[in-house]
This record gives sequence, structure tokens and C-alpha cells, in this order.
Amino acid sequence: MHNSLMTSAQFPDELPAEDPQAIADALQRPLHDLRISVLDQCNFRCPYCMPEAEFHSDYAFLKRQQRLTYDEIVRVATAACKLGVSKIRLTGGEPLLDKNIAVLVERLAKLPGVDDLALTTNGVLLSAAAEKLAKAGLHRVTVSLDSVDEKVFRAMSGGRGDLAQVFAGIAAAEDAGLGPVKINVVVQKGVNDHTIIDLLRHFRGSGTIVRLIEFMDVGNRNGWRMNQVVPSRELLTKIQQQWPLRPVGRNYPGEVARRYEYVDGAGEIGFISSVTEPFCGDCSRARLSADGMLYTCLFANQGTDLRKSLRNGAVDDELQGILSSIWLQRADRYSELRSPELAEHHVLQKVEMYRMGG
Ligand code: GTP
Ligand code: 5AD
Ligand code: SF4
Ligand code: SF4
Repeated sequence: MHNSLMTSAQFPDELPAEDPQAIADALQRPLHDLRISVLDQCNFRCPYCMPEAEFHSDYAFLKRQQRLTYDEIVRVATAACKLGVSKIRLTGGEPLLDKNIAVLVERLAKLPGVDDLALTTNGVLLSAAAEKLAKAGLHRVTVSLDSVDEKVFRAMSGGRGDLAQVFAGIAAAEDAGLGPVKINVVVQKGVNDHTIIDLLRHFRGSGTIVRLIEFMDVGNRNGWRMNQVVPSRELLTKIQQQWPLRPVGRNYPGEVARRYEYVDGAGEIGFISSVTEPFCGDCSRARLSADGMLYTCLFANQGTDLRKSLRNGAVDDELQGILSSIWLQRADRYSELRSPELAEHHVLQKVEMYRMGG
């Protein structure tokens, strides 16, 4: 057997007997969730993700032929679904920069076994796209929005974002039936933590679900320091002083957010606390980058080149075999093992989040 953090008993019902191909990794975690980054470009320059100084006009983003085609993405997703994936999330970079994204959505929505198809966006292009995405079969969207304070928002989007457009995007998504919209807020001490109460006030009672994310040491470029993290517990105490909250159970095994609801009935919020309360024990997520690398952890320093296999003529069974053998060997649990001291020195070469997809 494995060590004390092993989680073999956590998914007693996860491998349905009627699905002989569903698999589990070395820590008994099933493969449930596939996150697909469709392109590495973004119209924001959030300093913690794509700082302007580095991602300037001559930065070499992936060229079209380096990115997977829709056919290739669908082939990987099909194989993943046969192995147990039922939840797919499209990410980037900014996935709505891909003008044809609805075509991909339509194809993924039809895959047998997919019961949750979501997309993460910064929201700027959402009002124009929402209706089309919903018609194509997208179930819901998550909008990354770090502050409703105009100045803080501008700073955190690298001077690119327009708050009014993001609000319009959220409203359009709700109108198109892509709700309840979730809002992802990366909380950074001294940057936006003082604006969280206002952000919550803005969305309270609207049906939109705000999720407060601890700033993580993903990639090597964001200069992460432990003292920039606001532990969720601290934030919870602060919020409780304003609006009492009570915990709510998980929606599904492996959910990353700890859910709470306002006692006064104004809706739900969540905390994603990967730094202070890691959730690797339940992690059932694989990530496919725009250039076809498959990663089994957000903090991975290496992945498997599926594009090469796809373009070398691997047939569907072979592709499924490759995915299966990667997952069966998987033992990632970075957040549980993280040492803040080492993370601050950025010793481990990790893949950047805009490439891997959040
Ligand atoms: P729901 O399906 O709506 O529950 O959301 P989700 O679990 O797909 O979450 P989402 O993609 O919105 O993720 C929110 C944030 O949580 C991401 O942007 C990351 O910052 C963090 N996150 C998501 N998955 C992982 C993970 O596997 N490991 C870690 N450490 N963080 C994660
Ligand atoms: N820590 C936590 N979340 C992050 N995101 C990007 N970088 C980080 C980080 N260092 C979030 C974005 C978005 C999602 C794709 O990932 O805000 O919500
Ligand atoms: Fe773009 Fe999201 Fe990265 Fe910001 S965090 S630069 S919106 S991919
Ligand atoms: Fe999963 Fe890696 Fe995040 Fe742990 S750190 S929850 S293994 S992606």
C-alpha cells in the first residue's frame, strides 16, 4: 500500500461496474475532468500570469500549426471520455479569442459521457459570444474577475480590461442560460484583498457564485511569495463579520471549492484553498495544452506530447492506451507536498498557467 496520505477509500463509488474502461491512478483517483487549453494567447496581461514586460508584441505565441486542430482535440477528448471523463472545461489563455470556439463546443457537447461542459474566460468578449456558445451546447461559464474596483481591476488585468464589458458579459451569459455564472477571484495580499468585501457585495443576491482563490505558485514567472497569500480561513473570518455564512456540502467528489452560503439567503460563495488546505487527495483532473501536451498536475514540470502521437498516425485505440498508461502511473500531489520556502525560490521548473490552462 501507499503512504498515509493515500486516499483509496475516498471514491468508493467512482469506478462504475458497468464501465470497465474507467481507470484510477496510483493513488486511486479516477479520471473525471479534462481541461482543454485552446490557445495560449490572451487579451489581458495579468501581472501574475502574463506580465506585459515579457508578453509584448513580439512574444512568440504558438503558431496555428503548432496548436491542436479541433479534430485532434476531439480525438483526445473522446479517448478521455472512454476512460471516465464526464466533465470538460475549455480554457486558455483566453478561449474566446478563438473566433470559432462555438464549433468546438458543439462537437464536444455531443460526446457520449460529457455531462458538464464549461468555459473559463476573462469575460471581455463574452457578451458577443454567450448566445452562440449556449446554442452550441455549452452548459456554463466561469469568469475570472479579480476586483470590482476600477483601478485595482485595471492593474490586475495589466491595464487591458474594461470592467463594464465584463459585467455585460456576465449578464449576457446569465440571459443565454449559461448560469449560474461563477466568478474566480485570485486574492493577493496588498493588491486586491481590501476590495473583496465590495466584490462580494456587488454579487450578493444576484445568483452569481463568487469563488475566492488563494494565490498559487503556479509557473515560475509570478514571483510568488507565501506572504502574498491570504489564507481562506482569514478571509472567511473577515467576511463572517459582515455577513454570517454557513458551510454547504460538496456538489460532487473532487470539487475544488469549499462552498458556503449567506445565512440571510443572499446566495453562495466558495473558497479554493490549494495553498493552506490542499485538495490533491480528490484530484481527478487532466490538462491538455494548446500544443497537445497532456499534464496530470497544475504544477507539472513535464507532460506527454500527444500531438506527436496524433500526427504520427496513432489510431484511436493507441491514443486511449497512451492516456490510460499516463493516468495509471500518475501520483501527483504537488500542493500536499509544497514547501513554501522552496516554492519562493522557484526551484522547480513548472509549466506556466496560461499554457496549461487554469
Ligand atoms: P466547478 O466545476 O465550477 O466546480 O469549477 P472547477 O473545479 O472546474 O474550477 P475552476 O476551473 O473554475 O478552477 C478554479 C481555480 O481553482 C483555478 O483557476 C485554479 O486556480 C484552481 N484549481 C482548479 N483546479 C485545480 C487543481 O487541480 N489544483 C490546484 N492546485 N488548483 C486548482
Ligand atoms: N493562483 C491562483 N489562480 C490563478 N489563476 C491564474 N494564475 C493564478 C495563480 N497564480 C486563475 C485565473 C483564472 C484561472 C484560469 O486561473 O484567475 O481564474
Ligand atoms: Fe489572461 Fe487569465 Fe492569464 Fe489573466 S489570468 S492573463 S485573463 S489567461
Ligand atoms: Fe491536482 Fe496537482 Fe492541484 Fe494537487 S496540485 S490538486 S495533484 S493539480
